[in-house]
Amino acid sequence: MINKELTIKYSITDNAGDLESGDKLLLDKAKSAAQHAYAPYSGFRVGAALRLGNQEIITGNNQENAAYPSGLCAERVAIFAASSQNPDAIIECIAIAIDTDSGKVTEPVPPCGACRQVIAEYEIKQGKEIRIIFSGETGKIVQVESINSLLPLSFNSNNLQHK
Ligand code: THU
Repeated sequence: MINKELTIKYSITDNAGDLESGDKLLLDKAKSAAQHAYAPYSGFRVGAALRLGNQEIITGNNQENAAYPSGLCAERVAIFAASSQNPDAIIECIAIAIDTDSGKVTEPVPPCGACRQVIAEYEIKQGKEIRIIFSGETGKIVQVESINSLLPLSFNSNNLQHK
C-alpha cells in the first residue's frame, strides 16, 4: 500500500476589498440574489452569482418546495440557467452569499456536495478553472481557484468509460 497526501489551497480574508474588483461586484450580486430566494422552510436564503467569459453575470438563489427534496440550491439554479442560456460560455467565477432574518451567519458557507459535483462537471467540460468565492452574512470570505480544492478525487466522465 502506498500512502499519498493531497493538499488543498484556499485564500481567506476579512475584507471584501481584497477581492479582485470584478469578484467583489459578483459577491454583491450574490448577496442581492440571496435576498430574493424562495426559502420559506429553512429561512436560509442563499444567492449565487457567476460571471461568464463575456463578463455577463447570471444569478440564482435557492428554491425550496413543500416536498423538500424537490427544491434546488442557489448554485445549481445559477449554473443551470447559465448553461441553458449560454451553453458555450466559460464560467470564470462563482460567488456565494447568504441572507437570514437573524443575520447570525458569521462563517463562510461553502457549496454543498451536490453543487460541488455540478461545478466539477462544468469545470471539466470547459477545460478552465472556475474560481469559487463564499461568504456568510458577515465575517470572513474564502476563495478557491478550482473545484479541485473542494472536491478532490471527484467522480467524473472519465470514470464512465466502461464500453
Ligand atoms: N443551500 C444552497 O442553496 N446552497 C448550498 O450549497 C447549501 C444549501 C440551500 C438549500 C436549502 O434551500 C437551504 O440552503 C438549507 O439547506
